[in-house]
Amino acid sequence: MLAGLTAAALTSCGSGGSGGASGADDGSITMGFSQVGAESGWRTANTKSVQEAAKESGITLKFSDAQQKQENQIKAIRSYIQQKVDVIAFSPVVESGWDTVLKEARDAKIPVILTDRAVDSKDTTLYKTFLGSDFVEEGRKAGKWLVESFNNSTDPVNIVELQGTTGSAPANDRKAGFAEVIGADPKFKVIASQTGDFTRAKGKEVMEAFLKSNPDIDVLYAHNDDMGLGAIEAIEGAGKVPGKDIKIITVDAVKDGMQALADGKINYIVECSPLLGPQLMDLAKKVVKGETVPARVVTEETTFTQEQAKTALPNRKY
Ligand code: AHR
Repeated sequence: MLAGLTAAALTSCGSGGSGGASGADDGSITMGFSQVGAESGWRTANTKSVQEAAKESGITLKFSDAQQKQENQIKAIRSYIQQKVDVIAFSPVVESGWDTVLKEARDAKIPVILTDRAVDSKDTTLYKTFLGSDFVEEGRKAGKWLVESFNNSTDPVNIVELQGTTGSAPANDRKAGFAEVIGADPKFKVIASQTGDFTRAKGKEVMEAFLKSNPDIDVLYAHNDDMGLGAIEAIEGAGKVPGKDIKIITVDAVKDGMQALADGKINYIVECSPLLGPQLMDLAKKVVKGETVPARVVTEETTFTQEQAKTALPNRKY
């Protein structure tokens, strides 16, 4: 499968890559897009949004799926540079280790847009803009709900945390934002925290281990819906009632997560919108023309209680 994807990424075409503004003389634009993978419902919705928006805006999209591996993303970016695409967009699986390949793109005069996830490069001239959520704020929102929900009790609150992919921006930032808020009150204790790699299967597996070694779990904080949904299976398998015996907070608000919230199995969801495609294509058109774009474009997002999920579900797009 990987060979097929790499081959697709290596198919030659493209027009830009030289001079100040890239793009073909006829105004057509080719974008090379390196996606993280297909690890979650969020990711599936994000891929669909990018592919549909490219079509609608007349941008030719070269798409590759990195299967959650940084080396695959670096290979894909290098192949896009070789093909002289007009613009490269990617959602970096982890934050570190991008400087070399981003310098190669800059040397080839191909603009790069970060979408969804950030890199930790000190040199911000390596990319034109970063479009995506404020993951620290998402973590804070999760923490605030927890603090408010337990504000009438002085008993200790034992929390387990299912982290996203190790080293990824959403895992680092959602952990940090949550810790910042709950850290103000010592009754909140994170008694176990481990990665579930943003997948349902890993979420279930790690939650099973948490339940075996910790008999008194009050709260699960999962960095995405998929891990939360896997954990629900583990909790039910252990004879406990998700949403009651163990309160659950997740991030994303994909349909399956929202259904579990409406059903009372999840208690609160912090939204993270995957519908980045249209904004990404607008930004791509601008950077290809050499126009100035904001260094950071933050996605607008909300939160959902169980009642709000019931109302929102019928019109939920993803
Ligand atoms: O980077 C966004 C995160 O990646 C989503 O919250 C998660 O579901 C996905 O895998």
